[in-house]
Amino acid sequence: MKTFIVGNWKLNFNVGEASIYLHKLQKKLPNYRDIEVVVAPSTIAIQPLSLQIDRHKMKLAAQNAFYRDYGSYSGETSFSQLRGVVDYCIIGHSERRYIFGENDKDITKKVEAAIRNKITPILCIGETESERAFNETSDVIRDQLLGGLRDVSEEDISKVIIAYEPVWALSNGKNSKLASPDEVSDAVKLIRKTLEELYGKKAAEEVAILFGGNVRPSNAGGYLTVPGVNGIMVGGASLILSEFTDIIEIAKRVRS
Ligand code: PGA
Repeated sequence: MKTFIVGNWKLNFNVGEASIYLHKLQKKLPNYRDIEVVVAPSTIAIQPLSLQIDRHKMKLAAQNAFYRDYGSYSGETSFSQLRGVVDYCIIGHSERRYIFGENDKDITKKVEAAIRNKITPILCIGETESERAFNETSDVIRDQLLGGLRDVSEEDISKVIIAYEPVWALSNGKNSKLASPDEVSDAVKLIRKTLEELYGKKAAEEVAILFGGNVRPSNAGGYLTVPGVNGIMVGGASLILSEFTDIIEIAKRVRS
């Protein structure tokens, strides 16, 4: 399995800035076969970047999309419109859940729509600070996993990527703390176990699990060497070219 490094640019970079960043990133980046570098720009930048991107070096992701293909849904972009333009879509990011009120029902439909449109869903799950304080971490992880994967068949589960992103560890969090590699390891074990119960051992092993939460060059190696972690999702540090390329280099070193 490849190691995934996903840069989530969130609501940053206008089209010109995104294009310049991509140009510099592509220039700096060798063509690593075993590292899948993915960047997720704002929706408005996706189309121009899709014409600029060297798909041998990296891939594009959307940060969100809507599950209906077309219709009276003002302000939305559908998976069918993104088909062939992006390879991945982040689904159920905690900012979508807690700022925009997305629930597991919406997320299930989005995962299904992504797969139907040949876009790999990166399903984000993770507990908040208070859920962890109340010892609800395992329940939240299981519920969000079961919720998001409700309509995913055994045949399709290998097309899904899971990103474990504890909300309290994201760099935008109010009292943001770093997750320890042990905490990440516990969550990843639980995710694999739940996948195994749902889809069997072999299928569970084929699902890529990423970690996200204030990943920086200083801690990326620690997270990438947690058994069962197949990559990382990077927010803040993905906006700084040198940090993002350092993280990719670290992933390459950890692999070899
Ligand atoms: P962060 O964001 O790296 O800035 O914590 C990660 C994410 O939200 O995916």
